[in-house]
This record gives sequence, C-alpha cells and structure tokens, in this order.
Amino acid sequence: MNKKDILDILKSPDKSLFKEADKVREEHVGNGVHLRGLIEFSNICKMNCLYCGLQSSNKNVERFRLAKDEILSIAKSGVEAGYKTIVMQSGEDSYFSAKVLCEIISEIKSLDVALTLSLGERTYDEYKAFKDAGADRYLIRIETTDEKLYKKMHPFADFENRKRCLRDLKKIGFETGTGCLVGLPGQTVESLADDILFFKDLDADMIGIGPFISHPDTPLASEPNGDFNLALKVMALTRLILPDINIPATTAMETLKENGRLLALQSGANVVMPNLTDVEHKKLYSIYPNKASADRNEVEVMLKRIGRYVADDFGFRKH
Ligand code: 5AD
Repeated sequence: MNKKDILDILKSPDKSLFKEADKVREEHVGNGVHLRGLIEFSNICKMNCLYCGLQSSNKNVERFRLAKDEILSIAKSGVEAGYKTIVMQSGEDSYFSAKVLCEIISEIKSLDVALTLSLGERTYDEYKAFKDAGADRYLIRIETTDEKLYKKMHPFADFENRKRCLRDLKKIGFETGTGCLVGLPGQTVESLADDILFFKDLDADMIGIGPFISHPDTPLASEPNGDFNLALKVMALTRLILPDINIPATTAMETLKENGRLLALQSGANVVMPNLTDVEHKKLYSIYPNKASADRNEVEVMLKRIGRYVADDFGFRKH
C-alpha cells in the first residue's frame, strides 16, 4: 500500500476494512489476546504536551510517585494473578534515574515475566542500561509525524530527538512500540497516512493508536475530541500493513465510545492493558478525563463471547 491507497481508505465510508483487519489479525497472531498489566508509577512530568492532563503546567493535579517497594509489590501481585507482561509507565520524572530504574527492572525480571517500559525520552546509554538490566520492550509514541503539528503540540520538545529515541531502541534490541493520536487539532488525514508509513518504515513491533480526548485543564480544553471511527481505521490499516505485530485495544478507544475496546479487538487489535495500580493513584493518572479501566474478569467474559481467549505466553512478536 502506498500513501494514496492508505488515504483512499482513510477517506472512504466503507467499513469492510475492519473485517479485513480482523481476518489478518486472526491469520497472523491468532485468537489469543495478550494482557499486559500496567503500573502507572509516577504522574510527575517535566514535559508540556499540550493535550496531556499531566503536563507540568497543570497545577490542578495532585502529583504522586510510588516508592520502589510499592512498584515491586504491585508487579508481584500482577505476576501472581497470571500476567505474563508488566508495563511500567510514568511521566518524564527525573527522580527515577537509570540506576534506580535498573534496580527495579532486574527485581521485576526475577519474577519470570516480560517487562515493558514507557518512560519517555532518555539517552542511548540509559536505554542500553535498561536493556542490560533485563527490560524487553519499550513504548514511546511518536504522537504525530507532522513536524509542524508536533512542534505546536510539544512547544519545548524536539521532534528529531523523539525519532532518535525510536531508532536507538530498535538498535539496542528492544521490542519497540510507538503510535499516534488521532484527532489532534489541526491534524490532517494526509499526516495520518504518513504516521502509518512511519510505523512500517520503523518496523515497529507494537503500535498503540488512540483518539485525542480533550482535557479540561489543558490549553486544548475547548477542542473537540477525536473521531472514534477514524482512530479505528488508522489502527485497522496498521494491522494490514504490519500483520504480525502487537496492537492494543487502547483505553482511549474505550473511554471515547462504549464497547470501543470490543470494536478494536474485532478490527485488528490483539492486546489489552488492564491497570494494576490502585484506584486512588489511577484517578490521579489523568492523562485525559474519565479514563476507562479494563477489569480482568470482564475482559475474559467479553473475549469468550467473541471466540477469543487470554493467551498464556509472553506475547512477543512472532515474525
Ligand atoms: N487524549 C488521548 N490520548 C492522550 N495521551 C496523552 N494525552 C492524551 C489525550 N488528551 C496519550 C499519548 C501518550 C499516551 C501515554 O497517552 O499518546 O503517548
């Protein structure tokens, strides 16, 4: 598929893409759904992404940072509950030096579980240290490949550095995840086609796509939410273009639309990321308002209903 083919599909009202992506998903990654247990361990962030409720200029957030022991104890209960992957996610919180993180990483890895990190932009040496300490995967969305829009959305960030991070992660040997937001103010369908081509070019191992959801305490408070169907299309097209990768049914999909997670799982997604953090901290991790949650039992019932099941392997990409 070239850019024009992708654009035609993104602009077409035809819904057959979703069925097609579901078929490709079944052929390439099967009916098992990987559950990744998410620990949101710090909402402290030095960045100022315009869309994000956790941006450093938002003074209405009560900030928290879990202690090492708390993180380890949540990870341990996750593994005991059967999770085969733990995901450590946080804002860009400088308190967590590479040294502290590596200690946590190696302790979690001793639990015989796959470990994904989602901690933002770091140096090559830091990423390398995380890998040497045992981390398997790293998530860092490009958010948008439209450089002008990227600059607008991230006033003090450097687009080139974001791409450098992704290249470094690949080079170091991480399973590398990226993705984009759909529906950012000023975003074009053309740039979404470029986003998909970027995922292909990087040969990303995981792609997370979510609609933009307007947060009241941000400069984008009065902007409309992204379009659910368009986000679903970007996700389904990504499945067609990278048939064997892991694609989550993102929380933003479920938050924006009732049954959004189910629709995503039936349109190319094969991963769900339930939250392991306690309710109080979860509430404070408010990237966007009314963030949905995935209750493990509910997810299992839902999967059974659609002929799917919880996979019991680590869920690495099978080329
Ligand atoms: N709406 C939807 N997704 C958001 N993210 C951040 N803010 C929002 C928002 N307002 C996404 C970003 C980031 C991920 C952790 O959350 O894409 O990479």
